[in-house]
Amino acid sequence: MAVFDQTEKKIITITLAVLGLFVFSILYAKSRYQADVPDCVPYDKAYTEPKVKKIDDKTYQVFAVAQMWQFQPAEIYIPVGSQVDFFLTSKDVVHGFAINQKNVNMMAVYGNINKTTVTFDKPGVYKITCHEYCGAGHQNMQAQVIVNDPAATN
Ligand code: CUA
Repeated sequence: MAVFDQTEKKIITITLAVLGLFVFSILYAKSRYQADVPDCVPYDKAYTEPKVKKIDDKTYQVFAVAQMWQFQPAEIYIPVGSQVDFFLTSKDVVHGFAINQKNVNMMAVYGNINKTTVTFDKPGVYKITCHEYCGAGHQNMQAQVIVNDPAATN
Protein backbone atom coordinates (compact mmCIF):
# COMPACT_ATOMS: atom_id res chain seq x y z
CA MET A 1 0.00 0.00 0.00
CA ALA A 2 1.26 3.42 -0.94
CA VAL A 3 1.93 5.80 1.84
CA PHE A 4 1.38 9.44 1.03
CA ASP A 5 2.86 12.27 2.91
CA GLN A 6 0.29 14.90 3.89
CA THR A 7 2.04 17.56 1.81
CA GLU A 8 2.20 15.23 -1.17
CA LYS A 9 -1.51 14.58 -0.89
CA LYS A 10 -2.17 18.31 -0.77
CA ILE A 11 -0.06 18.95 -3.86
CA ILE A 12 -1.79 16.19 -5.80
CA THR A 13 -5.18 17.56 -4.83
CA ILE A 14 -4.24 21.09 -5.88
CA THR A 15 -2.76 19.82 -9.18
CA LEU A 16 -5.93 17.89 -9.98
CA ALA A 17 -8.06 20.91 -9.11
CA VAL A 18 -6.03 23.17 -11.40
CA LEU A 19 -6.13 20.60 -14.21
CA GLY A 20 -9.85 20.28 -13.75
CA LEU A 21 -10.18 24.04 -13.96
CA PHE A 22 -8.23 24.07 -17.24
CA VAL A 23 -10.39 21.40 -18.80
CA PHE A 24 -13.50 23.16 -17.55
CA SER A 25 -12.27 26.47 -19.02
CA ILE A 26 -11.76 24.92 -22.44
CA LEU A 27 -15.18 23.31 -22.44
CA TYR A 28 -16.76 26.49 -21.11
CA ALA A 29 -15.11 28.62 -23.82
CA LYS A 30 -16.23 26.10 -26.42
CA SER A 31 -19.88 26.35 -25.44
CA ARG A 32 -20.08 29.94 -24.23
CA TYR A 33 -18.11 31.63 -27.00
CA GLN A 34 -18.53 28.95 -29.63
CA ALA A 35 -14.76 28.77 -29.64
CA ASP A 36 -13.93 26.23 -32.25
CA VAL A 37 -11.21 23.85 -31.21
CA PRO A 38 -9.47 23.15 -34.52
CA ASP A 39 -9.80 19.67 -35.96
CA CYS A 40 -6.91 17.74 -37.37
CA VAL A 41 -7.69 16.39 -40.82
CA PRO A 42 -5.80 13.43 -42.31
CA TYR A 43 -3.01 14.77 -44.49
CA ASP A 44 -3.67 14.90 -48.19
CA LYS A 45 -1.52 16.63 -50.78
CA ALA A 46 -4.66 18.15 -52.32
CA TYR A 47 -4.79 20.62 -49.42
CA THR A 48 -1.40 22.08 -50.28
CA GLU A 49 -2.89 23.65 -53.42
CA PRO A 50 -4.26 27.05 -52.32
CA LYS A 51 -7.81 27.72 -53.46
CA VAL A 52 -11.28 28.94 -52.62
CA LYS A 53 -13.87 26.35 -53.48
CA LYS A 54 -17.54 27.17 -53.68
CA ILE A 55 -19.76 24.35 -52.43
CA ASP A 56 -23.00 26.31 -52.74
CA ASP A 57 -24.12 29.95 -52.38
CA LYS A 58 -23.51 29.94 -48.63
CA THR A 59 -20.82 27.33 -48.21
CA TYR A 60 -17.18 27.66 -49.12
CA GLN A 61 -13.97 25.79 -48.56
CA VAL A 62 -10.66 27.60 -48.35
CA PHE A 63 -7.42 25.70 -48.74
CA ALA A 64 -5.04 28.11 -47.05
CA VAL A 65 -1.32 27.65 -47.44
CA ALA A 66 1.21 29.51 -45.33
CA GLN A 67 4.82 29.95 -46.34
CA MET A 68 7.59 32.45 -45.70
CA TRP A 69 6.17 35.11 -45.82
CA GLN A 70 2.74 35.03 -47.23
CA PHE A 71 -0.63 33.35 -47.15
CA GLN A 72 -2.27 31.97 -50.22
CA PRO A 73 -4.89 32.78 -51.25
CA ALA A 74 -4.13 36.31 -50.06
CA GLU A 75 -7.63 37.59 -50.78
CA ILE A 76 -10.72 35.53 -50.18
CA TYR A 77 -13.99 36.91 -51.52
CA ILE A 78 -17.23 35.54 -50.16
CA PRO A 79 -20.82 36.78 -49.84
CA VAL A 80 -22.20 37.74 -46.45
CA GLY A 81 -23.66 34.88 -44.43
CA SER A 82 -21.22 32.34 -45.80
CA GLN A 83 -19.97 29.44 -43.82
CA VAL A 84 -16.36 28.74 -44.58
CA ASP A 85 -14.30 25.66 -43.84
CA PHE A 86 -10.65 26.62 -43.60
CA PHE A 87 -8.10 23.89 -44.24
CA LEU A 88 -4.70 25.16 -43.24
CA THR A 89 -1.21 23.92 -43.85
CA SER A 90 2.33 25.26 -44.21
CA LYS A 91 4.97 24.79 -46.87
CA ASP A 92 7.85 25.39 -44.50
CA VAL A 93 8.06 26.45 -40.86
CA VAL A 94 5.27 26.81 -38.33
CA HIS A 95 3.07 29.83 -38.96
CA GLY A 96 0.10 31.25 -37.10
CA PHE A 97 -3.31 31.93 -38.56
CA ALA A 98 -5.53 34.37 -36.70
CA ILE A 99 -8.67 35.86 -38.19
CA ASN A 100 -9.53 39.28 -36.83
CA GLN A 101 -12.86 39.53 -34.96
CA LYS A 102 -13.44 35.85 -35.43
CA ASN A 103 -11.93 34.03 -32.50
CA VAL A 104 -9.84 31.91 -34.83
CA ASN A 105 -6.34 30.99 -33.77
CA MET A 106 -4.71 28.15 -35.63
CA MET A 107 -1.23 26.93 -36.37
CA ALA A 108 -0.06 26.12 -39.87
CA VAL A 109 2.21 23.11 -39.70
CA TYR A 110 4.07 21.42 -42.52
CA GLY A 111 2.67 17.97 -43.22
CA ASN A 112 -0.48 18.66 -41.24
CA ILE A 113 -3.92 19.99 -42.06
CA ASN A 114 -5.84 21.96 -39.46
CA LYS A 115 -9.47 22.71 -40.02
CA THR A 116 -11.92 25.16 -38.58
CA THR A 117 -15.30 26.49 -39.65
CA VAL A 118 -16.23 30.15 -39.56
CA THR A 119 -19.47 31.93 -40.41
CA PHE A 120 -19.23 35.50 -41.71
CA ASP A 121 -22.51 37.17 -40.77
CA LYS A 122 -21.39 40.75 -41.27
CA PRO A 123 -19.92 42.35 -44.36
CA GLY A 124 -16.41 43.73 -44.02
CA VAL A 125 -12.75 43.00 -44.36
CA TYR A 126 -11.38 40.45 -41.93
CA LYS A 127 -7.63 40.50 -41.64
CA ILE A 128 -5.71 37.28 -41.29
CA THR A 129 -2.35 37.57 -39.59
CA CYS A 130 0.49 35.26 -38.75
CA HIS A 131 0.93 35.35 -35.00
CA GLU A 132 3.80 32.91 -34.74
CA TYR A 133 7.26 34.38 -35.25
CA CYS A 134 8.51 32.78 -38.46
CA GLY A 135 11.50 34.84 -39.54
CA ALA A 136 12.48 38.13 -41.13
CA GLY A 137 9.23 38.73 -42.99
CA HIS A 138 6.89 37.61 -40.23
CA GLN A 139 5.23 40.98 -39.76
CA ASN A 140 4.31 41.10 -43.45
CA MET A 141 2.38 37.86 -43.41
CA GLN A 142 -1.19 38.90 -43.92
CA ALA A 143 -4.23 37.99 -45.92
CA GLN A 144 -7.83 39.06 -45.86
CA VAL A 145 -11.32 37.73 -46.11
CA ILE A 146 -13.52 40.19 -47.99
CA VAL A 147 -17.16 39.69 -47.16
CA ASN A 148 -19.57 41.45 -49.50
CA ASP A 149 -23.20 42.10 -49.11
CA PRO A 150 -24.54 41.74 -52.67
CA ALA A 151 -27.85 43.32 -51.59
CA ALA A 152 -26.16 46.49 -50.34
CA THR A 153 -25.75 49.41 -52.73
CA ASN A 154 -22.38 50.98 -52.27
CU1 CUA B 1 4.44 33.32 -40.64
CU2 CUA B 1 4.95 34.65 -38.73
